[in-house]
Amino acid sequence: MSSPTDTSRHVLVAVAWPYANGLSHLGHIAGCYLPADIFARYHRIAGDRVLMVSGTDAHGTPITVKADQEGVDPAQIVERYHPRFLEQWDRLGISFDLFTTTMTDNHREVTWDLFRRLHAAGYIDTKTTEQFFDPQADRFLPDRYVEGTCPSCGSPDARGDQCDGCGATLDPIDLIDPRSKLTGAVPEPRETEHYFLLLPKLQEELATWLAGREHWRSHVINWAQGFVREGLHDRAITRDLAWGVPIPPELDISTEASEKRIYVWFEAVIGYLSASKEWAQRSGDPDAWKAWWENPEAESYYFIGKDNVPFHAVFWPSYLLGHNTEAERPLNLPTNVPANQYVTFRGAKASKSRNVGKSLLDYLEAYGADELRYALATILPEQADTDLAEDELVRRINDELVATWGNLVNRVLAMTRKNFDGEVPAPGELDERDHQLLATVDEQLAEQARMIEAVELRRALKAALAGAQAANGYLNALEPWQTAKTDRDRTATTLWTALQAINGLKVAFAPFTPFASEKLHGWLGGEGDLVDHGWQRHEVPVGTNLGAPAPLFQKMDEPETD
Ligand code: MF3
Ligand code: ZN
Repeated sequence: MSSPTDTSRHVLVAVAWPYANGLSHLGHIAGCYLPADIFARYHRIAGDRVLMVSGTDAHGTPITVKADQEGVDPAQIVERYHPRFLEQWDRLGISFDLFTTTMTDNHREVTWDLFRRLHAAGYIDTKTTEQFFDPQADRFLPDRYVEGTCPSCGSPDARGDQCDGCGATLDPIDLIDPRSKLTGAVPEPRETEHYFLLLPKLQEELATWLAGREHWRSHVINWAQGFVREGLHDRAITRDLAWGVPIPPELDISTEASEKRIYVWFEAVIGYLSASKEWAQRSGDPDAWKAWWENPEAESYYFIGKDNVPFHAVFWPSYLLGHNTEAERPLNLPTNVPANQYVTFRGAKASKSRNVGKSLLDYLEAYGADELRYALATILPEQADTDLAEDELVRRINDELVATWGNLVNRVLAMTRKNFDGEVPAPGELDERDHQLLATVDEQLAEQARMIEAVELRRALKAALAGAQAANGYLNALEPWQTAKTDRDRTATTLWTALQAINGLKVAFAPFTPFASEKLHGWLGGEGDLVDHGWQRHEVPVGTNLGAPAPLFQKMDEPETD
């Protein structure tokens, strides 16, 4: 339990909230959920206090458009997808401390609190603007109710809020050749009143803050700085929409003709804070969230896809800066926003709104969780868009995970069973080759820690695999299957050393393939849970009974090519 005297490192792992308008697919998983989980698991093993939160993004036009299409209530859409999200996190081992929704009373209260503070401090005010109105449907058309040609890149099917072609965030009123998604009619601009966030007032502070973030991934910091340099504009934070977090009652400007709600992108990012508070409530210590938000030493990492960069690298920090100008206790701004690029399927962005590719739950029917995690972790789009081909996933699992790491474990356990009754043998004197292997594993663990701290997770996984390769090379050089016939002492030393190496590699792989590492932890006689033993190699005591070995991973069949 976190108390004011708790001096451990506090790490908030904030993960993008999936819209409740469809199932997740591999692009989302590789984009943010898996990297966040790898990062969180590493920190937990390292002994840090991790709070990993997210939830179902229940509001906005992605949900109402889907509800309209099906002729149901938006809440029903959310109630359908939220349990599916929980199920997929459970099956894939995405270890949220809390995965909630933006439909809670708590989230509304926390949103209102921030809205009121920003309003009282003069950062929020009303303005009359033009919004598209569908004369046939007799209603305003916010965000995704309008489609048309992107004013930035000319892509013909941009959504009113964002263009998938170039990633630009858009205002529907700027679309070229706009059409109503409801009726296909050409919408007409009409005046309507809304609340605006007066971003120009925060421009300087934002620019100063961003100037201190130059260690961020270059595509993230370059985008954010470029955006701020171009000059910030007032930004509408309410919508003519009847689904969403209401405006605080005393500030409500809804009219009979048009109900208004807070814009989903204003309130959803507040979810990181409201979820932290909800987690604290549930944990029985309602103030516990402060250790991650008000403690100036605490760190926060926001795992998102690149289309979310504007909201996390500019807008969310701006709300926090606005909040902090008059707050007795400032809230922490992001330490890092390690946004990923896209995973593409044959060149098309993997997006659930466009229905490309199978869902994660479909994949989990055919793939084991660790196997899928491993394969996806090798292709995380950390620096560039990455193309995903299913046969590549299978090749990675079979040729790397199973052939290198899985088989290493199998053969060492099997040889120990055959030659030493499945008990860790007492080694003779270690020679240079034995010392060398253990030093390699220890150095590699330290190096991996630095990589994961820097959110270079692909490299960290490569390092773990290199450790397994080193152990295989060691076995091939020392040939314990040969020495078993002639030199029992040497065989004991070799297997003892290999088992110690495996006990270190178990930690190295744990953030990536947690189920297998936990299993192995048990087989190697580890007490309790792996997570409580630190980011280090422990010695497996001589005489430990290794039990009956079973395959750690499942080899995959080659997919049929179409
Ligand atoms: N629902 C959004 C999306 O899928 C992400 C929201 S992240 C949040 O793109 F922080 F704003 F919630
Ligand atoms: Zn575009």
